[in-house]
Amino acid sequence: MTQQTLSIIKPDATQRNLQGAILKMIQDAGLKITAMKMIHLSKKQAEGFYAVHSDKPFFDSLTDFMCSGPVVVSVLEGQDAISKYREVMGATNPANADEGTIRKAFALDIEKNSVHGSDAPETAATEIAYFFNQLEIVRS
Ligand code: CMP
Repeated sequence: MTQQTLSIIKPDATQRNLQGAILKMIQDAGLKITAMKMIHLSKKQAEGFYAVHSDKPFFDSLTDFMCSGPVVVSVLEGQDAISKYREVMGATNPANADEGTIRKAFALDIEKNSVHGSDAPETAATEIAYFFNQLEIVRS
């Protein structure tokens, strides 16, 4: 099934100039980039994006981190794109991430874990709409 998913290259990765290396891993996995932009989130925008985690003890630290520098947000498309991108990213905690994954290669810790990817079709739709309107997504 062809799906879309939202990717974020997080501030820990943009700060180390890893955008190109991470996008190459995404493209090498066969995922197509159909929208992309670099933005610097405000605290409010980061809180809105991660609202589902607002009751978690790490929420304040996570949203501070997410607005500490620029992020690259993109829409990825492909066969089973949601699970495929989650495989390419690796486990949330880089200590548990498999060899060959983005987080194994680049993540610093469970919070500064370099990338975000949607976890289900409903969240993908909500997360894509948080950053992009339909005119900004190319038809593949
Ligand atoms: P992400 O896939 O973007 O989804 C939620 C984010 O919260 C996660 O990646 C991490 O950046 C962060 N996160 C998840 N669990 C923890 C934790 N236990 N401590 C700190 N940050 C966390």
